Amino acid sequence: MDKRVEIYIGFKCNNDCVFCVERNSRLKNRDKILYHNLTEIEDKIKSLKNQGYNHLNFLGGEPFLEKIFLPFLQTAKKYGFSTAVTTNGSMLAIEEIAQSHLPLINDLIVSIHGHTEELIVKQTNNSRLFTGLKNVFINIKKYFKGRLLKANCVINKLNYNNLKEIVKFIHANGISEISLTNMSIKGYNNDYIVPLSEIKKIIPEIADYAKENNLIIRFSDLPFCILGDNYFLTNEIFADERVKLNAENKEESFWRPKIKTEKCNECKLKDLCLGLDLEYYKLFGDGELEPVI
Ligand SMILES: C[S@@+](CC[C@H](N)C(=O)[O-])C[C@H]1O[C@@H](n2cnc3c(N)ncnc32)[C@H](O)[C@@H]1O
Repeated sequence: MDKRVEIYIGFKCNNDCVFCVERNSRLKNRDKILYHNLTEIEDKIKSLKNQGYNHLNFLGGEPFLEKIFLPFLQTAKKYGFSTAVTTNGSMLAIEEIAQSHLPLINDLIVSIHGHTEELIVKQTNNSRLFTGLKNVFINIKKYFKGRLLKANCVINKLNYNNLKEIVKFIHANGISEISLTNMSIKGYNNDYIVPLSEIKKIIPEIADYAKENNLIIRFSDLPFCILGDNYFLTNEIFADERVKLNAENKEESFWRPKIKTEKCNECKLKDLCLGLDLEYYKLFGDGELEPVI
């Protein structure tokens, strides 16, 4: 079984997503160089190996913008790690980059938050991302031979009315596993929060579409009662344990702080569910939760 660890290799990004959970750490650390040479990379990988890890997930920033990403992948492979990365995909439009990196990646998660240029630009502030996507999909198909290919779409105020179209777009382009992740609240992105009661309304049509089209959908960071009968589509049931090392190399919880309220006591899913996002609760309370009886 994988023993998973997540590490940062840099903080540069060519997107500026309006909801970005990493905005503060990107700004604070943007000039920070975490690894200077191959020796430092090899030392890090060896130390992770000695701690018993065998699966390495690269965090960012945008890992593909880092020159050290390829040597990191090569060294991880040399020491027997499986590898995972979440990327905005932009650099995979370049065939040489796709060709050199993708065969070294086992789990590839591509962030796709929209199905039209307008929607993608509004969210990512990257005017070149959408145009490149065609080649991104072609290059992934050509060079990615790993075990997991997934898209991740962050549910937010700008895209939640289009989630089904976005799912269709991703699927039409060859990705048949999709995470729909509820936006993590950071204060500066409060304008993009979607009420849980609104998300609840759109779950059934997406779940039906997935069933009819042989598509794997995983909803992340939503209380199970919001998913209702589709609670088994939650990511939390399937996610493996992992350790996240933050920018200071300290262990951090992968899961966001959650709360179970009195209402949860009445719910038959209370032992499975992780609860309501604490930040959401602080802003809006638990009025939208409807215990499953
Ligand atoms: C911070 S990004 C870094 C990797 C890469 N630059 C990318 O865009 O995929 C990692 C993942 O977190 C997601 N993400 C960003 N902000 C988020 C938020 N507020 N809540 C939940 N997920 C978020 C991104 O969409 C992406 O899938």
